Amino acid sequence: MWDPTAYQRYGDERSRPFFDLTGRLPDERPRAVVDLGCGPGNLTVALAARWPGAAVTGLDSSPEMISKALALESPVAFAVADLREWVPGPEDDVVVSNAALQWVAGHEELLTRWAGQLPGGARLAVQVPGNFDAASHRTLRALAREPRWAGQLAPLLRDAPVRDAAGYADLLISAGCAVDAWETGYLHLLPVRPGADPPVLTWMEGTALRPVRAALADDEESWSAFRAELAGRLAEAYPVRDSLVYFPFRRIFFVARTGARP
Ligand SMILES: C[S@@+](CC[C@H](N)C(=O)[O-])C[C@H]1O[C@@H](n2cnc3c(N)ncnc32)[C@H](O)[C@@H]1O
Repeated sequence: MWDPTAYQRYGDERSRPFFDLTGRLPDERPRAVVDLGCGPGNLTVALAARWPGAAVTGLDSSPEMISKALALESPVAFAVADLREWVPGPEDDVVVSNAALQWVAGHEELLTRWAGQLPGGARLAVQVPGNFDAASHRTLRALAREPRWAGQLAPLLRDAPVRDAAGYADLLISAGCAVDAWETGYLHLLPVRPGADPPVLTWMEGTALRPVRAALADDEESWSAFRAELAGRLAEAYPVRDSLVYFPFRRIFFVARTGARP
């Protein structure tokens, strides 16, 4: 289950890559725009504002996220749907997926299929986190693999759920697209409030820790123990400097343009 409030706690930091990604889309007028894994919908609404003449759809498998998105009362057609089942339509000139495909095992096959099914000249714009080797994720996986937790938690955490920028460029070029791919390293400066949880922990509670929380949902004691242990290790890995924690975060981007259709 996704918690939109926990996810949006660092909304400014999380939305910046979306605008860096969509800033690389040309100002042509798409007929239809689809946001796959749209989350709470605030960023999809920005797509509708940019292209008021387009039919904009936001799809997400989380009912909690879609309920938040529907409350925005925007022109976007939001719906609960699994992006793995989505089939491109003949007018889908822009497809955006921001920070979602890392959750979808086998998304490479989906990208190849979409590239073949989208209309000619369509743009497929994707951003995924590329920080699975960062201290935050290494610390989480190391703890989850310790004997107390391994049985329940180790299978939930994949080492490398995404490719690097060159890997996605290879994939989409092989699928007949022209590709613009890059990586950006952000340095998030997260404020630390006295007595509060380490900010990297609260960041991760909005995303990476979600499967662990779900697996321990019926066992509050275990969740509290896991969370407290992780908090201690993250506080060591990310020391406080001048009331801030420096949280480097690498992200991977690509915009693929489909080839002409016969
Ligand atoms: C980190 S959030 C990103 C939300 C939004 N794109 C943004 O940038 O704020 C990831 C989203 O992907 C959605 N998601 C994960 N797997 C999905 C799937 N198979 N189909 C549709 N949505 C999925 C989750 O429900 C979640 O809302």
